[in-house]
Amino acid sequence: MRVLTGIQPSGILHLGNYFGSIKQMLEYQGKSDLFIFIANYHALTSLKDANALKKNTIDAAISFLSLGIDPNKATFWVQSDVKEVLELYWILSSYTPMGLLERAHSYKDKVAKGIIANHGLFSYPVLMAADILLYDSNIIPVGKDQVQHVEITRDIAVKFNNAHGDIFTLPEFKIDENVATVPGIDGAKMSKSYGNTINIFTTQKELKKQTGKIVTDSTPLEEPKEWENCNIYKLCKLFMENEELLELQERYKSGKEGYGHFKATLKDKIWDYFSQAREKREYYLSHKDEVRDILNEGAKKARTIATKKMQIIREKVGIL
Ligand code: ADP
Ligand code: TRP
Repeated sequence: MRVLTGIQPSGILHLGNYFGSIKQMLEYQGKSDLFIFIANYHALTSLKDANALKKNTIDAAISFLSLGIDPNKATFWVQSDVKEVLELYWILSSYTPMGLLERAHSYKDKVAKGIIANHGLFSYPVLMAADILLYDSNIIPVGKDQVQHVEITRDIAVKFNNAHGDIFTLPEFKIDENVATVPGIDGAKMSKSYGNTINIFTTQKELKKQTGKIVTDSTPLEEPKEWENCNIYKLCKLFMENEELLELQERYKSGKEGYGHFKATLKDKIWDYFSQAREKREYYLSHKDEVRDILNEGAKKARTIATKKMQIIREKVGIL
């Protein structure tokens, strides 16, 4: 069973990214044949600063390795290191009806937000289809916003298979229904674009600042407090099990502590939870050659599969 996913190298990672997606992805490791790559070609549709893209790509690699990708258990590479994907992208383009792409929500939403569309943004799902189909992927773990892209991939694969026989495996998307939306410091969905994040890799001082800004009501210290709708409590739930949560509830009820105390508890929890990842990150930051080696090794493995698959596809469509 091959599980494949791509990660946009988008700079800073926050708690929403981790609990909403990275943690689930890592659960496949060791259980399935996990293929995971950094989608730097996709990032190019929106990021036009070369240095930033390079930096974000390496940074994403370092962060994901630090958070638990094990190169002995997963195949991990940078999308652009396997050029076959671009060839397949072009071939698939000729099997993709315009209407299919015109209906893509992600594209329409971006245009509606006033983003000036380029062709890359429009054809983004075709490149994603190439990413998926090139490696005969079975399962694609994605966030809700990417489901339609996997459906488009299936439609393209069916078009191609109808013309040429059973060449492509039809992938299935997998969204984790149990994953709740992680709230940001203002209570809205945590997102880079809202500036309400708590970041995973940050200094203790910065973490204190970010947790310190969590919005609460103004119940005075000496009064019992509501926990259910409290943003601090909601975030604590990501890090605490039953007993610890009950203890925290008692503290809310007691009227002996203020929100500042709960924020400090949350800060300590976050800091401890990611301590090992932070150490690994420090290590990789000072051993970038090792990171490059891991990515090269992953690309080599991915390329072996891609090369074989492309030979079959070229033959089918008549590319000499
Ligand atoms: P952002 O909104 O900060 O730009 P991305 O769109 O890059 O985040 O999200 C990457 C992944 O992290 C997606 O799969 C998305 O589902 C998940 N994710 C992001 N924010 C949250 C959140 N607040 N709660 C749950 N999952 C999230
Ligand atoms: N579009 C995905 C995102 O923004 C990233 C991605 C690129 C991807 N290619 C993929 C995800 C292939 C799954 C499979 O999150």
